[in-house]
Amino acid sequence: MLTTSRLLLRTYRRDDLPAFAALNADPLVYEQLGGQPLSREHSDEIAEWAEECFEKDRLGLLAVERRSDGEYLGMCGLHHQESFPDDVEVAWRFASPHWGHGYATEAAQGWLGYGFAVLEVPKIISITDLDNTRSLAVMRRLGMTFVEQTTMVDDGLTFDAVVYALTADQWRTRIAG
Ligand SMILES: CC(C)(COP(=O)(O)OP(=O)(O)OC[C@H]1O[C@@H](n2cnc3c(N)ncnc32)[C@H](O)[C@@H]1OP(=O)(O)O)[C@@H](O)C(=O)NCCC(=O)NCCS
Repeated sequence: MLTTSRLLLRTYRRDDLPAFAALNADPLVYEQLGGQPLSREHSDEIAEWAEECFEKDRLGLLAVERRSDGEYLGMCGLHHQESFPDDVEVAWRFASPHWGHGYATEAAQGWLGYGFAVLEVPKIISITDLDNTRSLAVMRRLGMTFVEQTTMVDDGLTFDAVVYALTADQWRTRIAG
Protein backbone atom coordinates (compact mmCIF):
# COMPACT_ATOMS: atom_id res chain seq x y z
CA MET A 1 0.00 0.00 0.00
CA LEU A 2 2.20 2.82 1.35
CA THR A 3 5.80 2.81 2.47
CA THR A 4 7.80 5.15 4.68
CA SER A 5 11.50 4.86 5.42
CA ARG A 6 11.03 2.10 8.03
CA LEU A 7 7.42 1.00 7.60
CA LEU A 8 4.94 -0.69 5.31
CA LEU A 9 1.31 0.47 5.73
CA ARG A 10 -0.86 -2.28 4.34
CA THR A 11 -4.13 -4.14 4.60
CA TYR A 12 -4.51 -6.78 7.32
CA ARG A 13 -3.51 -10.41 6.81
CA ARG A 14 -4.88 -13.35 8.74
CA ASP A 15 -1.48 -13.90 10.37
CA ASP A 16 -1.56 -10.36 11.88
CA LEU A 17 -4.65 -11.17 13.93
CA PRO A 18 -2.97 -12.84 16.95
CA ALA A 19 -0.53 -9.91 17.32
CA PHE A 20 -3.40 -7.42 16.94
CA ALA A 21 -5.40 -9.29 19.60
CA ALA A 22 -2.37 -9.21 21.95
CA LEU A 23 -2.13 -5.43 21.39
CA ASN A 24 -5.83 -5.00 22.15
CA ALA A 25 -5.47 -7.01 25.38
CA ASP A 26 -2.35 -5.11 26.50
CA PRO A 27 -3.16 -3.06 29.67
CA LEU A 28 -0.83 -0.26 28.58
CA VAL A 29 -2.85 0.10 25.37
CA TYR A 30 -6.42 -0.30 26.59
CA GLU A 31 -5.88 1.85 29.67
CA GLN A 32 -4.83 4.71 27.39
CA LEU A 33 -7.94 4.08 25.32
CA GLY A 34 -10.05 4.24 28.49
CA GLY A 35 -11.62 0.84 28.02
CA GLN A 36 -11.31 -2.84 28.84
CA PRO A 37 -9.17 -5.52 27.19
CA LEU A 38 -10.77 -6.70 23.97
CA SER A 39 -11.60 -10.32 23.29
CA ARG A 40 -9.96 -12.06 20.34
CA GLU A 41 -13.33 -11.99 18.57
CA HIS A 42 -13.79 -8.23 19.06
CA SER A 43 -10.21 -7.57 17.97
CA ASP A 44 -10.71 -9.62 14.78
CA GLU A 45 -13.93 -7.69 14.09
CA ILE A 46 -12.05 -4.38 14.24
CA ALA A 47 -9.48 -5.61 11.70
CA GLU A 48 -12.30 -6.83 9.45
CA TRP A 49 -14.12 -3.48 9.76
CA ALA A 50 -10.89 -1.65 8.88
CA GLU A 51 -10.53 -3.72 5.71
CA GLU A 52 -14.12 -3.00 4.72
CA CYS A 53 -13.60 0.78 5.22
CA PHE A 54 -10.55 0.68 2.98
CA GLU A 55 -12.28 -1.33 0.27
CA LYS A 56 -15.33 0.95 0.40
CA ASP A 57 -13.79 4.44 0.29
CA ARG A 58 -9.98 4.05 0.53
CA LEU A 59 -10.02 5.16 4.14
CA GLY A 60 -9.04 2.70 6.79
CA LEU A 61 -7.05 1.91 9.88
CA LEU A 62 -4.56 -0.52 8.42
CA ALA A 63 -1.69 -2.67 9.62
CA VAL A 64 1.78 -1.24 10.21
CA GLU A 65 4.66 -3.59 9.43
CA ARG A 66 8.37 -2.96 10.05
CA ARG A 67 10.12 -3.30 6.71
CA SER A 68 13.42 -4.58 8.11
CA ASP A 69 11.97 -7.80 9.55
CA GLY A 70 8.24 -7.95 8.72
CA GLU A 71 7.23 -7.49 12.38
CA TYR A 72 3.61 -6.35 12.94
CA LEU A 73 3.76 -3.12 15.03
CA GLY A 74 0.22 -1.79 15.23
CA MET A 75 -2.62 -0.04 13.47
CA CYS A 76 -2.74 3.42 11.90
CA GLY A 77 -4.72 5.19 9.23
CA LEU A 78 -7.58 7.45 8.27
CA HIS A 79 -11.26 7.05 9.06
CA HIS A 80 -14.48 8.92 9.79
CA GLN A 81 -14.95 9.25 13.55
CA GLU A 82 -18.67 8.88 14.32
CA SER A 83 -18.84 12.22 16.21
CA PHE A 84 -17.14 14.08 13.33
CA PRO A 85 -18.58 12.32 10.26
CA ASP A 86 -17.64 15.11 7.83
CA ASP A 87 -13.98 15.08 8.80
CA VAL A 88 -11.22 12.59 8.16
CA GLU A 89 -9.39 11.54 11.32
CA VAL A 90 -5.88 10.10 11.53
CA ALA A 91 -5.60 7.58 14.38
CA TRP A 92 -3.11 5.07 15.78
CA ARG A 93 -2.65 2.22 18.23
CA PHE A 94 0.68 0.41 18.60
CA ALA A 95 1.86 -2.58 20.63
CA SER A 96 3.57 -1.22 23.75
CA PRO A 97 6.96 -2.96 23.10
CA HIS A 98 7.15 -0.79 19.98
CA TRP A 99 6.53 2.57 21.64
CA GLY A 100 9.36 5.07 21.84
CA HIS A 101 10.80 4.59 18.33
CA GLY A 102 8.80 7.17 16.41
CA TYR A 103 6.82 4.52 14.52
CA ALA A 104 3.41 6.09 15.23
CA THR A 105 4.60 9.51 14.05
CA GLU A 106 6.19 8.00 10.92
CA ALA A 107 3.12 5.92 10.04
CA ALA A 108 0.82 8.90 10.59
CA GLN A 109 3.05 11.06 8.37
CA GLY A 110 2.60 8.45 5.63
CA TRP A 111 -1.15 8.59 6.04
CA LEU A 112 -1.23 12.41 6.09
CA GLY A 113 0.64 12.39 2.78
CA TYR A 114 -1.90 9.95 1.34
CA GLY A 115 -4.85 11.98 2.69
CA PHE A 116 -3.63 15.32 1.39
CA ALA A 117 -1.87 14.31 -1.84
CA VAL A 118 -4.02 11.38 -3.04
CA LEU A 119 -7.45 11.89 -1.49
CA GLU A 120 -7.02 15.70 -1.58
CA VAL A 121 -8.87 16.30 1.67
CA PRO A 122 -8.61 19.91 2.91
CA LYS A 123 -8.02 19.04 6.57
CA ILE A 124 -7.23 16.03 8.77
CA ILE A 125 -8.17 15.95 12.43
CA SER A 126 -7.05 13.80 15.34
CA ILE A 127 -8.94 13.20 18.57
CA THR A 128 -7.69 11.89 21.86
CA ASP A 129 -8.52 11.69 25.53
CA LEU A 130 -7.43 14.79 27.42
CA ASP A 131 -5.01 12.67 29.48
CA ASN A 132 -3.46 10.72 26.62
CA THR A 133 -0.10 12.47 26.67
CA ARG A 134 1.60 10.05 24.25
CA SER A 135 -1.11 10.52 21.65
CA LEU A 136 -1.03 14.30 22.12
CA ALA A 137 2.73 14.23 21.62
CA VAL A 138 2.27 12.39 18.30
CA MET A 139 -0.24 15.05 17.16
CA ARG A 140 2.17 17.85 18.04
CA ARG A 141 5.10 16.11 16.32
CA LEU A 142 2.93 15.96 13.20
CA GLY A 143 2.44 19.75 13.37
CA MET A 144 -1.22 19.49 14.31
CA THR A 145 -2.67 22.30 16.40
CA PHE A 146 -5.39 22.46 19.05
CA VAL A 147 -8.94 23.07 17.81
CA GLU A 148 -11.23 22.36 20.73
CA GLN A 149 -11.91 20.45 23.91
CA THR A 150 -15.19 18.56 23.98
CA THR A 151 -17.08 15.69 25.59
CA MET A 152 -17.41 12.69 23.32
CA VAL A 153 -19.01 9.28 23.26
CA ASP A 154 -17.13 6.53 21.45
CA ASP A 155 -18.07 2.85 21.56
CA GLY A 156 -20.32 3.57 24.58
CA LEU A 157 -17.57 5.38 26.53
CA THR A 158 -17.92 9.06 27.47
CA PHE A 159 -14.68 10.98 27.77
CA ASP A 160 -13.15 14.47 27.74
CA ALA A 161 -11.52 14.77 24.36
CA VAL A 162 -9.27 17.21 22.59
CA VAL A 163 -9.39 17.75 18.85
CA TYR A 164 -6.30 18.73 16.87
CA ALA A 165 -6.10 19.44 13.13
CA LEU A 166 -3.73 20.02 10.25
CA THR A 167 -4.82 21.69 7.00
CA ALA A 168 -3.54 20.75 3.55
CA ASP A 169 -1.81 24.16 3.32
CA GLN A 170 -0.08 23.66 6.66
CA TRP A 171 1.01 20.17 5.56
CA ARG A 172 2.44 21.51 2.26
CA THR A 173 4.35 24.22 4.11
CA ARG A 174 5.81 21.64 6.50
CA ILE A 175 6.96 19.20 3.84
CA ALA A 176 8.40 22.04 1.73
CA GLY A 177 10.36 23.38 4.70
C1 LIG B 1 -0.29 6.77 21.17
C2 LIG B 1 0.89 5.86 20.81
C3 LIG B 1 0.72 5.30 19.41
C4 LIG B 1 2.18 6.71 20.88
O1 LIG B 1 3.30 5.87 20.74
P1 LIG B 1 4.77 6.52 20.92
O2 LIG B 1 5.74 5.43 20.78
O3 LIG B 1 4.80 7.36 22.14
O4 LIG B 1 4.86 7.52 19.67
P2 LIG B 1 5.91 7.51 18.50
O5 LIG B 1 5.89 6.17 17.84
O6 LIG B 1 5.67 8.69 17.66
O7 LIG B 1 7.31 7.58 19.26
C5 LIG B 1 7.70 8.77 19.90
C6 LIG B 1 8.81 8.46 20.85
O8 LIG B 1 9.86 7.80 20.13
C7 LIG B 1 11.06 8.60 20.20
N1 LIG B 1 11.71 8.43 18.91
C8 LIG B 1 12.75 7.58 18.69
N2 LIG B 1 13.09 7.60 17.40
C9 LIG B 1 12.26 8.47 16.78
C10 LIG B 1 12.11 8.90 15.46
N3 LIG B 1 12.88 8.42 14.48
N4 LIG B 1 11.12 9.78 15.16
C11 LIG B 1 10.31 10.27 16.13
N5 LIG B 1 10.40 9.88 17.43
C12 LIG B 1 11.38 8.99 17.75
C13 LIG B 1 10.57 10.00 20.50
O9 LIG B 1 11.58 10.76 21.10
C14 LIG B 1 9.44 9.70 21.47
O10 LIG B 1 10.00 9.31 22.68
P3 LIG B 1 9.35 9.71 24.11
O11 LIG B 1 8.05 8.99 24.21
O12 LIG B 1 10.36 9.23 25.09
O13 LIG B 1 9.16 11.18 24.07
C15 LIG B 1 1.00 4.68 21.82
O14 LIG B 1 1.23 5.20 23.10
C16 LIG B 1 -0.27 3.82 21.85
O15 LIG B 1 -0.46 2.95 20.99
N6 LIG B 1 -1.12 4.04 22.89
C17 LIG B 1 -2.32 3.22 23.06
C18 LIG B 1 -3.36 3.50 22.01
C19 LIG B 1 -3.76 4.97 21.98
O16 LIG B 1 -3.78 5.64 22.99
N7 LIG B 1 -4.08 5.43 20.76
C20 LIG B 1 -4.55 6.78 20.57
C21 LIG B 1 -5.97 6.88 20.87
S1 LIG B 1 -6.57 8.47 20.49
